[in-house]
Amino acid sequence: MESLKNKKAIITGGSRGLGKATALAFAKEGMDIAITGRNEEKLKETVSELEAFGIKAIYSAFDVGNYEEVQKSIKNIITTLGTVDVLVNNAGIAAIGSFNEMEVSQWTQIIQTNVMGMYYVTKEVLPHLLSKNEGDIINVSSTAGLNGNANISAYAASKFAVIGMSESLMKEVRKNNIRVLTLTPSTIESDLTIELGMLEKGSDHVLQPEDFAQLIVSGLKLPRRAMLQSAALWSTNP
Ligand SMILES: NC(=O)c1ccc[n+]([C@@H]2O[C@H](COP(=O)([O-])OP(=O)(O)OC[C@H]3O[C@@H](n4cnc5c(N)ncnc54)[C@H](OP(=O)(O)O)[C@@H]3O)[C@@H](O)[C@H]2O)c1
Repeated sequence: MESLKNKKAIITGGSRGLGKATALAFAKEGMDIAITGRNEEKLKETVSELEAFGIKAIYSAFDVGNYEEVQKSIKNIITTLGTVDVLVNNAGIAAIGSFNEMEVSQWTQIIQTNVMGMYYVTKEVLPHLLSKNEGDIINVSSTAGLNGNANISAYAASKFAVIGMSESLMKEVRKNNIRVLTLTPSTIESDLTIELGMLEKGSDHVLQPEDFAQLIVSGLKLPRRAMLQSAALWSTNP
C-alpha cells in the first residue's frame, strides 16, 4: 500500500462538504494540503481544523471559473507547497430548474464553474505532474453525468462534460504515470444537497462526505502500477 505521508494535495472546493471531508482524510494521512474556494472565512475555518493534524495547510480564495485568477492562484499555491502530487477537482455548483425557466446566466455559470473551472485548474497543475512523471488527478462528476433528468439540464450537461474531459485526459497521461480517476457519486449529505432540498440534515442511511473521502484515499493508496479509473459511489439504501 502506498504511503501518502508528506504528499502535497490541492483540493478545489475544500472549504465545506465533500472537499472538506477529503481534506480532513488527507490530513489524517499526513499530507500537506491547499484548499480553495471563494468564501475566505469558510476557508480559514477549515484550515484551522486541518492544522490540528500537525500538517501544513493553506488556503487560496479564487473563482475556478476565472482563468486569470486560476493561473495566479495555482502558481502561488505550488510555490508555497513546494510541489504538487495530488489534485482533487471537486469545486462545483448545481441548481434545479426547468429548461426554459432557468436563466441563461445561471446555466452558463454552472458550465463555467463545473467544466471550465476543472479545465483551467487542471491545465495549470498538469505541467508540474508531467515534469515529475508522477501524480494523481481526481475529477468529481456525478450520477447526473451518466443519466440526464428533468430540471437539471445544466448540471447534467456539466457532469457529462466532466466525464468526457476526464476520460480523455486519463488516456493521454496514463503513460506518464499520472492516474486520473473519474468519480460519479450518488447523493451525499452535504450543504449543497441540503440547500437544494434533496435531503434533510441527519437523514438515515444516506451517504456521508467521509464515505466519499475514504474512497479517494483507498484509490490513492493502490500501488502505482494500479489505478482506479472510475468509481460510482452508491448508498445501500435505494
Ligand atoms: N453532494 C452530493 O450529493 C454530490 C453528488 C455527486 C457529485 N457531487 C459533486 O461533488 C462536488 C462537491 O459537492 P458538495 O456537495 O460538497 O458541494 P458544496 O457543499 O456546495 O461545496 C462546494 C465547494 O465548491 C466551492 N465552489 C463552488 N463554486 C466555486 C467557484 N466558482 N470557485 C471556487 N470554488 C467554488 C465551494 O466554496 P465557495 O462557495 O466558497 O466558493 C465549496 O467549497 C461538486 O462538484 C458536486 O457537483 C456532489
